[in-house]
Amino acid sequence: MTMMKGMFYYPWWFFQCKVLGRRKPLQSVIFITDLCNLRCRHCCIVKEGPAVLTKTLDEVREEMHYCYDAGSRFIDFEGGEPHLWRDKEAGADINTLIDEAHAMGFHSTTVTTNAQLPITARSNLIWISLDGLEEMHDDQRGAGTFARAMENIEACDHANLNVNMVVTSRNYRDFEPLARLVHEHPRLRKLSFSFYMPYETRDLVVSSEVRNLIIDQAIELKKAGYPLMNSLTGLKMLRDPRSFVPKKQCWISNFIMVDGTRLACCQGEAAGICDECGFGMGAEMMLLFSLHPEMVRAGLSVRSAKKPAGV
Ligand SMILES: C[S@@+](CC[C@H](N)C(=O)[O-])C[C@H]1O[C@@H](n2cnc3c(N)ncnc32)[C@H](O)[C@@H]1O
Repeated sequence: MTMMKGMFYYPWWFFQCKVLGRRKPLQSVIFITDLCNLRCRHCCIVKEGPAVLTKTLDEVREEMHYCYDAGSRFIDFEGGEPHLWRDKEAGADINTLIDEAHAMGFHSTTVTTNAQLPITARSNLIWISLDGLEEMHDDQRGAGTFARAMENIEACDHANLNVNMVVTSRNYRDFEPLARLVHEHPRLRKLSFSFYMPYETRDLVVSSEVRNLIIDQAIELKKAGYPLMNSLTGLKMLRDPRSFVPKKQCWISNFIMVDGTRLACCQGEAAGICDECGFGMGAEMMLLFSLHPEMVRAGLSVRSAKKPAGV
């Protein structure tokens, strides 16, 4: 059904944007809370101290309408930890948002989670953040977090579990072992990675040597059949973000931050760090907009796993 809806919508969206020059987002990222059960070394969202901002169901609903009306058909719920989000008065949790998004007409829903709680979100796609094998993941995210994430992955029967790694100057040596883990794990489908983005501090930024090393490894692994989400062309472009920044099409994703700020593209632009872009998606969105076949295939394959029951 999702693909059927898209067959009509995407060519229409593409025509409006490419030919008529409109800037309509296709994907929206909504930060629903900054409440989190972890304090990760690299996190650009959750700060030390108690969480202060959690949206109500009505607020998220209004933001979803805004994104849908702007043209968006993919929605990602981000936090904080999305599994902790509740609107007690409305009796709502993350699955309420997912169900409402589908009812509203979004084609696909995504949740990014640290997997410290049972993974109960019934979005079409789940990104699980793993930042290395046990020692490095725990170094970045806290003692015991790797073991707990792996237990919750084992216990979850969602059909579309994928892994996202943020590569930093501390954990980069775990990139290849983590790719092997994802490749061999029966419950995990794809691995995506990005480089640490220096929104506030630079201590975890990778050097250009490390950046190139990881990209070389990713290209080799992908050629060897490892399930890397990034396209080969996108990976090559990621070596030097300045190669795609002047042509970037980052408006394809809009963002609504936890304080309600609406951004027409990622916070990297507002922070003035596009030239250091570590998000594979920056390059991939440019490729998508030029209808690069590898990117279109990658996008369709990660979104197209069978829907979990109940969605
Ligand atoms: C902010 S977290 C929220 C969702 C959930 N709590 C989790 O840990 O996956 C979403 C994703 O952003 C990534 N992230 C956080 N800070 C980042 C940074 N400075 N650069 C790149 N990615 C970052 C996290 O590693 C995670 O994969």
